[in-house]
Amino acid sequence: MRGHRGRQDAEVRGSLLYCLLGGFLLWTLTSIGCRRSEMSEPIVFPAGRFTSAQQCGTCHRDIYTAWRGSQHARAAQNPIFRESYEEAVKVAGEAATRLCLTCHAPTVVLTGDYALAQEVTREGITCDFCHSLKGTDLERREHPFLLEVGATKYGPIRDAASTGHRVAFSEFHLSSLQCAGCHEYRNAHEVPILSTYSEWELYRQRGGDKECQQCHMPQVLANIVDPKVKRVQGAFVNLHTMPGGHARDQLVRALEMRIVEAQRAPRGLRVRVRIRNVGAGHAVPTGSPTRRVILRVEVTTESGHRVRQERVYQRLLLDEHGREIRRDSLLFTEARAVARDTRLAPAEQRMEEFVLPVPTDENLTITATLVYLYSPHERPETETRIEFLSERKELLSRWIR
Ligand code: HEC
Ligand code: HEC
Ligand code: HEC
Ligand code: HEC
Ligand code: HEC
Repeated sequence: MRGHRGRQDAEVRGSLLYCLLGGFLLWTLTSIGCRRSEMSEPIVFPAGRFTSAQQCGTCHRDIYTAWRGSQHARAAQNPIFRESYEEAVKVAGEAATRLCLTCHAPTVVLTGDYALAQEVTREGITCDFCHSLKGTDLERREHPFLLEVGATKYGPIRDAASTGHRVAFSEFHLSSLQCAGCHEYRNAHEVPILSTYSEWELYRQRGGDKECQQCHMPQVLANIVDPKVKRVQGAFVNLHTMPGGHARDQLVRALEMRIVEAQRAPRGLRVRVRIRNVGAGHAVPTGSPTRRVILRVEVTTESGHRVRQERVYQRLLLDEHGREIRRDSLLFTEARAVARDTRLAPAEQRMEEFVLPVPTDENLTITATLVYLYSPHERPETETRIEFLSERKELLSRWIR
């Protein structure tokens, strides 16, 4: 049961009625006792036109603040995207403009504002885009969004009674399909570029029971609307910051790792590490193919000898010359084939074996570390590198013999 659905609005509606009646009879006297919103006219948002998040934020303040801190709010403006976008436009021209902005500034599909002249376009994945979305049709080629922009805002509250504007309950907003329009994409050569949604379908087939929202929009105690506008009791709000792979605590939740064996072998030390995707509702890593997770095993001897080996989990794409694509700007338009996909599928467990050439008659320290690495432009300055899980084992020489 989601927190905010069962609450009572009767009291609020009653007092609203009282205020309206009072307004007719004795305007000045009664209005003193009425709350501000109950005096103001409901807003009728114009049909076919997106409204800026700033306006939504005048009533939905907590949600606005959370959203402002999200990657969604920065999707059209953040420097990492801008750099890739400018490169992509150099390579592929107007086709790239249309393509990139369809997901990063999706209001363009109606407004055609590809120059990002309007504030609401620059707001990227803005409130009014998600709350005017009624469905997703992944078969549609130009864009998958089924939109109805206007007076009614669609959302997850069954019993919403908005004094602000028209609302309608939408089952769609509780489902992963709400996210699929942007988190799933095959390019013109049928190469999967983003496949988080279809990976999620595999997660469901393997017994997973959560929608994207349940992991990425957990409920937090906050106001759905500013209490000055309407008092909603026991309000829980779905966190609109949507933490993802850039967040260390999400990464920690995704994988489980253990050194299960460390033994002397003919050519050195054999180490076996078990790694399991236990917490993600999709592959790890997911999203852009330039994202990697690296398992690093390192052995240090007492005398200071150090040996390191790695396994890389990534979906690697190739261009038409068979070269590996390592820049975000080229993924969408240039990819022709998948070279390999070593990512951890939902619920997958893998045993990795390493043979490290070290003298095994000394005391040894073994460390296994998981690192998340995202290097969108192949430049260290814009790289994100997060060490998120680590295990250390000491091995005394007498145990080895
Ligand atoms: C004048 C104040 C006001 C403004 C401005 C406003 N809202 Fe609301 N909104 C409300 C109130 C009040 C509710 C009802 C909350 C409840 O019943 O729990 C609401 C409810 C909602 C819901 C929930 C609907 C449901 O059935 O789940 C959504 C979604 C929503 N608003 C989106 C928006 C968007 C998008 C904007 C900007 C385009 C916006 N709102 C601007 C006051 C406002
Ligand atoms: C209109 C397109 C669109 C929709 C709909 C959408 N997203 Fe996104 N999402 C994006 C884009 C674009 C980014 C990357 C923004 C950036 O960093 O520039 C993103 C980023 C994210 C991230 C952050 C990844 C990171 O880098 O940390 C998460 C998590 C996420 N989305 C989850 C969701 C969920 C859950 C839903 C459905 C409730 C959803 N998205 C709906 C387009 C969309
Ligand atoms: C990426 C799409 C997306 C964006 C952007 C977005 N929302 Fe939502 N919003 C959702 C989804 C999905 C839910 C329902 C989550 C659930 O119930 O599991 C939701 C829920 C809500 C609700 C109902 C209360 C709640 O938290 O469940 C309101 C009100 C709302 N959003 C307003 C806004 C406002 C205002 C903004 C901008 C400041 C905004 N949303 C931005 C997708 C979005
Ligand atoms: C069972 C919980 C769960 C579900 C369901 C889930 N996710 Fe995630 N998601 C995670 C965890 C944990 C991570 C961090 C590990 C990672 O990056 O893969 C994550 C990471 C992400 C990222 C960040 C990728 C990056 O490297 O920045 C995006 C984007 C994302 N999820 C989108 C989605 C979408 C869209 C859906 C639904 C189709 C979804 N997730 C369903 C748990 C979940
Ligand atoms: C089908 C929707 C879609 C299209 C088209 C698209 N993107 Fe994205 N983009 C996303 C989503 C969703 C994410 C977040 C998932 C992830 O982080 O891997 C993202 C993330 C990114 C990021 C990482 C941003 C960050 O801050 O981490 C860059 C850079 C990027 N996209 C560039 C581009 C460029 C350039 C184009 C056009 C050539 C493009 N994208 C086209 C959906 C799309």
